[in-house]
Amino acid sequence: MPTTLSQTELLRELDQVVVGELDRHEKVAKEWFPHEYVPWSEGRNFDGRMGGEQWTESDSEVSEVARSALIVNLLTEDNLPSYHYEIATTFGRDAAWGEWVHRWTAEEGRHAIAMRDYMLVKRMVDPVELERFRMKHMSEGYALPQSGELMDSLAYVSFQELATRVSHRNTGKLTRDPMCEDLLTRIALDENLHMIFYRNLMNAALEISPDQAMVSILNVVKSFEMPGTGIPGFQRKAVEMAVEGIYDLRQHKDDVLAPVLRFWKVFELEGLSAEGEAARTELSEFLETLEKQALRFEDKRDMLKARMAPR
Ligand SMILES: [Fe+2]
Ligand SMILES: [Fe+2]
Repeated sequence: MPTTLSQTELLRELDQVVVGELDRHEKVAKEWFPHEYVPWSEGRNFDGRMGGEQWTESDSEVSEVARSALIVNLLTEDNLPSYHYEIATTFGRDAAWGEWVHRWTAEEGRHAIAMRDYMLVKRMVDPVELERFRMKHMSEGYALPQSGELMDSLAYVSFQELATRVSHRNTGKLTRDPMCEDLLTRIALDENLHMIFYRNLMNAALEISPDQAMVSILNVVKSFEMPGTGIPGFQRKAVEMAVEGIYDLRQHKDDVLAPVLRFWKVFELEGLSAEGEAARTELSEFLETLEKQALRFEDKRDMLKARMAPR
């Protein structure tokens, strides 16, 4: 019979792992300052109370899709209060778990601060539209797909932090603005450390309760969605971002799912129960389907690009 641990048992079992991971994280995470990444002297007043100039599209040379990606990435960071609520209620705020929840929140808070400062100083986006989007997005709030489920949440955030890292990195490149790329690379580094923290915790969970963990991984991989889904015009923006290669199915499968699954040795684990085996088989079938979808998308994108290329 597979053992299924309750949330409380699982929290307790993982307690010492959190202590260790927190310690490791604090040693490797380097302090950094958002203000050092922003070219303040390039900024100027906007219209309204300051009597400056209204934003126009020609204020920035950044492409339309890079602008969309910046907005999606920033709004995703902006929604931090909802994420904090989710992980604080799932992990609790006691001892090491609580310490991590607060530390992680503080680090994440820096991301939106730095990005907004940069984007406004460089007039990359319409500040009025941005603020209205932020209000709308945050007013809707956000709940994790498997809200409140500890094991599922650990699997989800492992993938999600890595996905965010990929998205920030590629958005930085697409802006063709070296300073912006610098900033987004710095943020991506934070996301990577967050991924490592959660990935290691989930790894320990796989050792403690492998069948349960396997089912969670399957659930999460099958239903994975980025937390930006509620952003106004998200679907269109996500398609544009996929076409530009900022975040597409190929990257999702090969650069986000694959390395984490490999680290967990999901396909090498031995001694699973029938339930665990069934979940693993379904996971492997799902990845095959994803591969086919990625290939199909790449074909379509190639055709689209060929059609749009100047003759
Ligand atoms: Fe972040
Ligand atoms: Fe993060």
